[in-house]
Amino acid sequence: MCGIVGYLGNNKASEVILSGLEKLEYRGYDSCGICFFDVAQEAFVTYKDIGRVFHLVNDFNYQYENHLAIGHTRWATHGKPNQLNSHPHFSQNKRFAIVHNGVIENYRELTKKYLPEVHFISETDTEVIVNMIELFVKDMTVEEAIRKTLSLIEGSYALLVIDTHHPECLYAAKNKSPLLIGTGKNGITLASDIMALVGYADQYMPIGDKTFTVCKKDDYGHYIFEIYDIIGLPIHGDFLRMDLILDEIGKAGYSHYMLKEICEQPSVIRNIMEKYLSYDKFTINPEILHLLKSCDRIYILAAGTSMHAGLVGKYLFENIAKIPCEVNIASEFAYNSLLLTKNPVFIFISQSGETADLRACLVKVRELGYKTLTITNVLTSTLAREADYYLEIFAGPEIAVASTKAYVGQIVLLAILSYCLSENKPFDLKLELSKIAVAMEAIIENRDVIHTLVKERIVKRNCFYIGRGLDYYTCLEAALKLKEISYIQTEGFAAGELKHGTIALIEEGVPVIGIISQHAINNSTRANIREVMARGANKIIISLNRVSDPSDEIILMNIEEMLSPILTVVPTQLIAFFAALELGKDIDKPRNLAKSVTVE
Ligand code: G6P
Repeated sequence: MCGIVGYLGNNKASEVILSGLEKLEYRGYDSCGICFFDVAQEAFVTYKDIGRVFHLVNDFNYQYENHLAIGHTRWATHGKPNQLNSHPHFSQNKRFAIVHNGVIENYRELTKKYLPEVHFISETDTEVIVNMIELFVKDMTVEEAIRKTLSLIEGSYALLVIDTHHPECLYAAKNKSPLLIGTGKNGITLASDIMALVGYADQYMPIGDKTFTVCKKDDYGHYIFEIYDIIGLPIHGDFLRMDLILDEIGKAGYSHYMLKEICEQPSVIRNIMEKYLSYDKFTINPEILHLLKSCDRIYILAAGTSMHAGLVGKYLFENIAKIPCEVNIASEFAYNSLLLTKNPVFIFISQSGETADLRACLVKVRELGYKTLTITNVLTSTLAREADYYLEIFAGPEIAVASTKAYVGQIVLLAILSYCLSENKPFDLKLELSKIAVAMEAIIENRDVIHTLVKERIVKRNCFYIGRGLDYYTCLEAALKLKEISYIQTEGFAAGELKHGTIALIEEGVPVIGIISQHAINNSTRANIREVMARGANKIIISLNRVSDPSDEIILMNIEEMLSPILTVVPTQLIAFFAALELGKDIDKPRNLAKSVTVE
C-alpha cells in the first residue's frame, strides 16, 4: 500500500511528483504529501495533509522553482490518517526528509536503543528511520549513515530520502516493497509503480531488494544514478523500454475507471487470445506445461478477487486438464499446516504481483524447494520476478481499486493453461472465448437495463447472491464487488447452504440474486430461489439463455458452460457499479481499501 515517488532533474520536480501521486493514489488515499527543495529560498518546502491528492494539487503554490522532490500517498498502517502522520517525515533537526512505503517491524527496539532522546512528532514507524540517519551522519557520510540504518531495520520498505546539505541528491532504498527507477532525457524518477513514470521516463528498471540507490548530478550537469547491494558493491541491471502511454492510464471519456475497465473486458479477452495464439493454436511455454503435467497436485494461492479466480481455476484444472488442484487463501496458508502431496506445484495468482501475503508464501514455498508459477497482470512485479515462471494476463493497467478486467483476464488465462494441458480438448477454446467477448458486448451495450434494476430493487441495506457449482464462485466475487464499492452488506452463498442458517436473515424485500449458468444445477438453484421468495425476498435471476425462464431478469447469450464465470460476472460488476453510483459512493477509491496490499 502507499505510493512513493521522487524526482531529480531538469523538469519542475513538484509537477512530476503531483502528477505521479495522482497516478499512484490507487495504492492508498488516506493522506498525501510532497517535499521539495526550493531553489530561491534554498530550503525544503512541505505540503502534507489528510485527504486526496486533488486537494494537494489545488492548494499547491506553483511559483516555486525546484528540481528535487519526494511525494507520498498513504494507506495508514501505523497511526491513524491525520496531518501529523502524513508523509514526508523529518529528522528531529529537520536535516532529512523521508517518504516510506512498508512496515518496519523492529522500530520499537530501535527507538529504545538508538533514539531514546528523540521527540517523535508522528505515530509512524517511518520517523525512526529518518532519525537514525540523522544520528549516524554525525560520524560518517550520508551514504554510510543510510546504509548503516538499512543494516539495522527489519521489515519492508521502499524509501526515498533527501538531505538539506545535498540538495542535488536523491537517496533510495528497497526491501520487499516495490520500487522502480526510470530515466529520461530530463532526469531520474523513482516510484512504487510504473504508472508514475509515464511521461517522464523512456526506460525503467525494477530495483532489487536490499539495495541502496544514489541519484545525483555529475560534473557535466548530467543526472546519474548508482545502485549498491547491501555490502556496497555496485549493481547493474537491465533497463526495459517504457511501453505504457498516457492514454492507457486515462479514463478515455468514461465517468469512472471501473466502468472503463468493465467495458474493456471484451477487448481484454481478444488481446489475451492474440498473445497466446500462435498459428491459430494456443501456446504456453513448454517448460510450464511440462512442470504442471508432471506434478501430482496444483496448489493455487491468492487473495481477494484473485482467490475467486483461483476457485474457477481449480474447476478448470480438474475438469479440463484433469489435474487435482486446491485453492488456499494466501494469508491463511502459513497457518494451515497442509499435508502437501509428494510433487506439488504452486501457482500464485495476483493482479498486482505485489500482495505481501502472497510474497510471504512464495518465499516459504521456495525455501521448501517447490516450483512456483505466478499469474499476474504486472510483468515487472515482485511475484513475477521471484517465481520460477510467470504468465502475464495482458489486461492492461487496472486502476479502479475494485478488480474487474484483471479477474476476467486471470480466468481466461487459466482456461488457456488448462486447455493446453488437456489431452482431449473438450471444445474449441478460441471459438468459445470469441463468443464470450461478443456476449459481453451485448451486456455492456444494454447496461441501462441493469441500472434500472439496481435503482428499483438492489439499493437496500443488504443483499445476497446465491448459486451452485461454478455459479457459486461467481456469487463470491459478485458479493465482494457489491460490498466493497457500495458498502451494502452482501454475502455470496452456495444456494443449498442457505437453509442451514442464513435463510433466517431473509425478510420482506431483501434482494436475492440467483446465478444460473449450468444445466445440472438449474432446478435445484431455482428451488432455493423459490424458498427465499416464499419468505419475502425480492429475486433477480441472471441466467444463460439455454437454462433461462422467461421471468428471469438478466438473460445472457449461450456460451460454453465450463467458461460461464467469465461472462456471468459482468452483470454483477455492473450491479455493483450502478449501486455505488446510486448511493453516491467513491467508486474508484472505496473507503479503507487499496489496490495493492503490500503489508501482511
Ligand atoms: C486488494 C484489492 C483486491 C485484490 C486483492 C488481491 O484487496 O483491493 O481487488 O483482489 O488485493 O490483490 P492481487 O493484486 O494480489 O490480485
